[in-house]
Amino acid sequence: MPRDAPESTKKECKQMGANLRLIDGLISDAGRIVAKEKESNGWFELSTLKEPYRVEGKKTMGYEIAEQLEWEMPDAIIYPTGGGTGLLGMWKAFQEMETLGWIKGEKPRMISVQSSGCSPVAKAFEEGKDSIETPFPNASTIASGLRVPLPYASEQILKVIRESDGLALSVDDSEILTAMKTMAKLEGISVCPEGAATLAGLNHLVSQKLVDQSDRILLYNTGSGLKYLDLISD
Ligand SMILES: Cc1ncc(COP(=O)(O)O)c(C=O)c1O
Repeated sequence: MPRDAPESTKKECKQMGANLRLIDGLISDAGRIVAKEKESNGWFELSTLKEPYRVEGKKTMGYEIAEQLEWEMPDAIIYPTGGGTGLLGMWKAFQEMETLGWIKGEKPRMISVQSSGCSPVAKAFEEGKDSIETPFPNASTIASGLRVPLPYASEQILKVIRESDGLALSVDDSEILTAMKTMAKLEGISVCPEGAATLAGLNHLVSQKLVDQSDRILLYNTGSGLKYLDLISD
């Protein structure tokens, strides 16, 4: 994992008995090392979307949304996108539930939010591209889960966003910090910066009139603010 990953993430891995190697680079550099060394070490590669299981796990987010909203889909879901597993998993769930006849009407618009310090999906979406070929330069953001400069599944991510009539946008880290505070103060929820990015994104969408005031919009929080204590001011 990158040397500058959150301390909480490193400690959690060590606590669980992982052999943790820190590198001076990004998640993509860590992935390259795993790909290179996996065979000689007999490792099973868990890099994002290079194995079939994690997307099945994240798929359950889609089922939980449907169940908790009593099978009435929201109009849109704003999700903080890094590698794209959540977005693809939820879309898979909605397609399955549609086939099963469990949900009716339109599936939600899938809206991807990223930090402007690392926003390859938002950039490719705005440029009308179908995939991402080059890594986002100098990727840097406080939302470490969003620091994925070249998502492996870029083609599928962009396809789902367009197929759902969604969109992709980016927000600044300063807006993410403000949204973390707002969510804590107004809702009593301590969210991680990735989750807070969804509220910052919603503010953009409202001011640009890209969503309707009457829309039912779901902001997906992907983690606890407690993993980022250093970002919480007194
Ligand atoms: C807290 C958090 N939110 C969001 C993401 C984005 O993940 P994905 O786009 O693969 O669902 C990550 C990825 O590590 C994360 O750690």
